[in-house]
Amino acid sequence: MRGVLDESEVVIREQPKGLAYSLHAYDNQAVVARLGACGTQVQLIYLDPPYNTGRLRGARKSFRDTATADWRERRLSLTRSAYSLLRDSGFVAVSINQSELFNFKSLLDEVFTPECFIGLFPVKIRHEKRQLMINATLHDLFEYLLIYRKNKKTRFFTTHKQIDPEKFIYEIRTLHRPEMKTINGKTVEIYGPNQYEILKTGYSAQALRRYVIAGKLATANWSGEWYENHIRRLGDDLLVKVEGLENDGLGYRWFQSGNTSRHSGVYFQSQLTAGRPILPTNDLDYTEVVPTIYKEGGPGCDFKDSKKPEALMRFILDICTKPGDIVLDLFGGSGTTLAVAIKTHRSAIIAENDPSAVAIIKARAENLRLGADADGQKHDFALHLL
Ligand SMILES: C[S@@+](CC[C@H](N)C(=O)[O-])C[C@H]1O[C@@H](n2cnc3c(N)ncnc32)[C@H](O)[C@@H]1O
Repeated sequence: MRGVLDESEVVIREQPKGLAYSLHAYDNQAVVARLGACGTQVQLIYLDPPYNTGRLRGARKSFRDTATADWRERRLSLTRSAYSLLRDSGFVAVSINQSELFNFKSLLDEVFTPECFIGLFPVKIRHEKRQLMINATLHDLFEYLLIYRKNKKTRFFTTHKQIDPEKFIYEIRTLHRPEMKTINGKTVEIYGPNQYEILKTGYSAQALRRYVIAGKLATANWSGEWYENHIRRLGDDLLVKVEGLENDGLGYRWFQSGNTSRHSGVYFQSQLTAGRPILPTNDLDYTEVVPTIYKEGGPGCDFKDSKKPEALMRFILDICTKPGDIVLDLFGGSGTTLAVAIKTHRSAIIAENDPSAVAIIKARAENLRLGADADGQKHDFALHLL
């Protein structure tokens, strides 16, 4: 019965650290209402709605993508109500093709505000040489992914480049009491030319890296700009410690001002903030995967209604969630999100109202349990059917 808390929702609501999987086989608006009533909060909402093209899809031409006049209103109303299920640190990712891309962008701007828009990711799914529709005017190679965050300060989850030990070789020693100043609201210690030593000690965990403030570092880097705006004018060959810079590391930053032989200043970075994040790019190409996508999920999981590559879902889950987080997919289709959530140790709540798609999701879950999925791995999980 709808509206009644059942076991899986209790699991999702009260044990956010335990993994749970549920398939709601009814309309997604009702699913959102039900989750709202349970107080469910999720890290990622994925929306992959019918694209509203009215076109017959797929080689067998047995699926028709519906075209409805109230498409935008329905997506807007669903997105509005789903918004409250999203954690403050959460993301929404939307797959769409060019027919409704601009409509979806504008409705997401309405719900999330334009400043929470992170990016448009063109997703290449067709090969330029594999042209199928002879009578078309354009061989469209792309679909699109739109990603928004609930809080404009939230960043994607990223991995970090390894730090280079050959660069972290400097140690700073002060030999004198500093002159204290407040500059631009920050406490600053200033050491004169003979009141400090900067030594090349070789690598150690405490050693610092030296950056010359030139080119882009002087204009487009926080520390570089701070040097140019506030430190350069203090004089030559000074060592300057600024409290409140590098807050996620040492809590302060060292600078050395320039002189007549080295015009540029330098700053020093600790290893606590080193190893720059490898940012995701919006260069997504699945043209090699799409021809065999019917195999993904294993036997009984062929699905002609814009089945997504697992690699695309893995990309989205990697940058928007971490293991243990909950993913909500309101247009479940063949269960790609469910499969990738299971494989990457995220919880998933899936809504799908078409009985034939629900049957495919169940078959895909069973394949995952038995190791009959394309990658042959067995997964131990329970899928709660609602
Ligand atoms: C484009 S497909 C999703 C494909 C999916 N991402 C995959 O990789 O297989 C859209 C799905 O949304 C489902 N759907 C459409 N309207 C819905 C609604 N109001 N509630 C629940 N599911 C709906 C359709 O039945 C269809 O299976």
